[in-house]
Amino acid sequence: MMKSPRRNGQTAAPDPRALPPPSSEEQAHSARLQQRLREEIAARGGSISFARFMELALYAPGLGYYAAGRQKFGAPGDFITAPELGSLFARCLARPCRSILAQLGGGDILEAGAGSGALAADLLLELESLGCLPERYLILELSNELRDRQAETLRRKAPHLLEHIHWLNTLPGSFRGMVLANELLDAMPAERFRITQDGVRQLHVAWQNDRFCWQEKPADEAIRRRIELLALPPGYTSEINLQAEAWVRSVADVLEQGVMLLVDYGFPRAEFYHPQRTDGTLMCHYRHRAHDDPLLLVGLQDITAHVDFTAIAEAGTETGLSLLGYTSHAAFLIGCGLEQLMSASDPEDARAHLGLTQQVKKLTSPHEMGELYKVIALGRGIQEPFPGFAGHDRRGHL
Ligand SMILES: C[S@@+](CC[C@H](N)C(=O)[O-])C[C@H]1O[C@@H](n2cnc3c(N)ncnc32)[C@H](O)[C@@H]1O
Repeated sequence: MMKSPRRNGQTAAPDPRALPPPSSEEQAHSARLQQRLREEIAARGGSISFARFMELALYAPGLGYYAAGRQKFGAPGDFITAPELGSLFARCLARPCRSILAQLGGGDILEAGAGSGALAADLLLELESLGCLPERYLILELSNELRDRQAETLRRKAPHLLEHIHWLNTLPGSFRGMVLANELLDAMPAERFRITQDGVRQLHVAWQNDRFCWQEKPADEAIRRRIELLALPPGYTSEINLQAEAWVRSVADVLEQGVMLLVDYGFPRAEFYHPQRTDGTLMCHYRHRAHDDPLLLVGLQDITAHVDFTAIAEAGTETGLSLLGYTSHAAFLIGCGLEQLMSASDPEDARAHLGLTQQVKKLTSPHEMGELYKVIALGRGIQEPFPGFAGHDRRGHL
């Protein structure tokens, strides 16, 4: 399954019987991560912020969900992302990449959080066929396990292009070109808060009675100030992703000239903190089942929060970038030539044509990725209009 949203006003409480039981090896792995978390909770006086819990659950070296263990992406994993459906998504993204590299007279592509490496391989192959390979394709990836997987995918699908690829541990000191990230921001650790009669409280995670549990604490000053501005009612619980905003600011700081193109699921702020979305957007994915309890299956399941795209736009523009476009997944991919790519496919080749039709449906249907998923472009020194947004730009909604 693709990542699914929470419905307004509803939670998706897990029925443990509906979740496939982890193997004994997975249980042992989870127990090691739980021990690591308990040590940190004890060292910090009895609780840690939810963002720190999410960070360790996903990225603790050798233990976190993205840092170890079995395959995450695609049918054998826990969820499907657009690059895993087939090459159509990458072929569409190749069009704006070509246009930016042509405008800059060269430059690099930097993909952050490259997952299995599928987007990198398919994008490079398409750019090669369009005659506009970037000077370098840089991959910024936190997880050593995923780096190995990415290298394996690239060796298998595009071995002759390996020389273009370089892995990075941190952002480069300066950058010219195209920064791409698909489903990166939703995987960054978010803070969780609740409005009470006493004001904004921050949700922490503690260990009690042999299990992780929630604890309310006075909110950090930065969170309190931001959330008070939203004037939310008592009982309202949601997330704020300060790390995602900080990441956008740090990319903006090094972006000499070029574009940051971010694709993810989420909403403008007014919709993110909609009066009916009273329990936030946290979702967990385990073997194609979705539920909303991040304290379960620690290290074995993905944890994610939707993106507040207004916050992302503000983080970029406050750091001197221009907001070049914001729209839905469907509108952006159509603006990148999805229909032309589809019409160039040979209907006589039934297998390939059907595969392509299925990709189009998943990528653009309002019930799949078409509407919940959005695309935002922030850039410096780039002429407008930016390809992909011409027909349907929703910047005014942010
Ligand atoms: C949900 S996965 C998406 C993977 C891939 N982009 C796709 O669409 O299939 C999130 C990815 O972001 C990576 N990641 C998370 N935080 C990161 C950061 N601060 N810098 C670079 N990569 C990060 C994770 O390790 C993982 O590869």
